[in-house]
Amino acid sequence: MENKAVRLDKYLAHAGMGTRSEVKKLIRSGRVLLNGVLAKKAEEKVSDSSVVIVDGAEISLEEYQYYMLNKPAGVVSATQDPMDRTVVDLITCLHHKELFPVGRLDKDTEGLLLLTDNGALAHQLLSPARHVSKTYLVYAEGELTKEDALLLENGMDIGDKMPTRPAKTANISYHEMSGKEGKSMQTRLELTITEGRYHQIKRMFAKIGKPVQYLKRLSMGSLELDASLSPGEFRRLTEEEINSILNYLA
Ligand code: URA
Repeated sequence: MENKAVRLDKYLAHAGMGTRSEVKKLIRSGRVLLNGVLAKKAEEKVSDSSVVIVDGAEISLEEYQYYMLNKPAGVVSATQDPMDRTVVDLITCLHHKELFPVGRLDKDTEGLLLLTDNGALAHQLLSPARHVSKTYLVYAEGELTKEDALLLENGMDIGDKMPTRPAKTANISYHEMSGKEGKSMQTRLELTITEGRYHQIKRMFAKIGKPVQYLKRLSMGSLELDASLSPGEFRRLTEEEINSILNYLA
């Protein structure tokens, strides 16, 4: 946008917050702050140095939008769904029609999900040829043996055409659990994979007879889940995070 003041409604529409009439409604309902003051009129002027905040989130005219969500269990990784709440529904401060999740986490999986409207970047992050690494926190039933860990690490047959690519295990620990049927063991570990096959981690652990009980994604490429985000919370990516993803893919 050129270096001169523009009307607030035009600015908001340009930033993807909705049509001109939708953003006028936003202003009228008292959800827009311009330079720290409640905006009252669509004609108020926004300059290069202005700070525009909608529902507590700063709005900018950057070409693309990038959000990090700590996906809670029970929400589907889609833009719309006839039955369930979607991850896009959770980005409540935004009226951005083009936002979509970069890849999918299962409905019961938690953790890092990137949402953007940058299709080219999403395509690169998801490309099987890129082998982008994804680290998950896994809780599995039973005690993972050395042989199990080797199978995960070397690549294994999970019923697809090709075995899985080598994975990395880290920070393995064992816990005793008490349940209705007495005591049982549980393994906690971090697993890094470089593919994104359907239910991949659950299928890998099912194959070694240690079903996954809890799964949470901690990182994707250079992007790490912000530990201060509770499940369901989200924030914009920082410039450093956006640049680090671009560098990772370069
Ligand atoms: N592997 C799975 O099995 N589920 C996920 O959601 C992600 C990886």
